[in-house]
Amino acid sequence: MQGVTVVDHPLVQHKLTIMRDKETSTAGFRRLLREISLLLCYEVTRDLELTTRIIETPLTTMEAPTLEGKKLVFASVLRAGNGLLDGMLDLVPAARVAHIGLYRDHETLQAVEYFFKAPSDLENRLVIVVDPMLATANSAVAAVDKLKARGAGNIRFLCLLAAPEGIQHFREAHPDVPIFTASIDERLNEQGYIVPGLGDAGDRMYGTK
Ligand code: PRP
Ligand code: URA
Repeated sequence: MQGVTVVDHPLVQHKLTIMRDKETSTAGFRRLLREISLLLCYEVTRDLELTTRIIETPLTTMEAPTLEGKKLVFASVLRAGNGLLDGMLDLVPAARVAHIGLYRDHETLQAVEYFFKAPSDLENRLVIVVDPMLATANSAVAAVDKLKARGAGNIRFLCLLAAPEGIQHFREAHPDVPIFTASIDERLNEQGYIVPGLGDAGDRMYGTK
């Protein structure tokens, strides 16, 4: 599928299966999401540009690779995005962070915004939006709309599960934003949940069901 990268690494797929299992505890779910986020972060940053700088090793001088450009921004769609964010910050501790508070209205499935806070200088930074679930994509589209309105021009979207319907909606709204996901599931059900899915990601992370 154009613009979509499925991260099919065996460790990702193994951990995802445990997360989908309804018997997995809240603590287990949270720990696995953090572990998977390290592997997904590795994939979504795979083609970052490098430059070099001169350093002194204990033995000699060398021109050594280092990331080019301004610090990355990780934009977490609350609440469940924070489960991916924590692990990603372990790998890229200097990243800047945006928080986008959105919840789905259960009747209309439209995204309702309740919070937005982002670094002021998004223009020249790569922004990686993180949210485990891309269902109807109403939340993802709203998050990217908002980031673009604040100047972001180089955006990627990282999730754990995506529904085909959500991918189509998101790609139509934001064809310039590549999607990275661990799985493309079968479909959405009548309530807008991903099938087979893993249930409500926020509830499973925080034990709020
Ligand atoms: C979940 C999920 C996404 C959204 C995906 O959040 O984390 O943000 O649903 O659904 P969509 O693609 O149909 O918009 P939810 O609204 O349940 O909020 P929560 O994380 O605070 O529980
Ligand atoms: N949000 C979730 O947390 N799970 C779904 O399956 C769909 C939207």
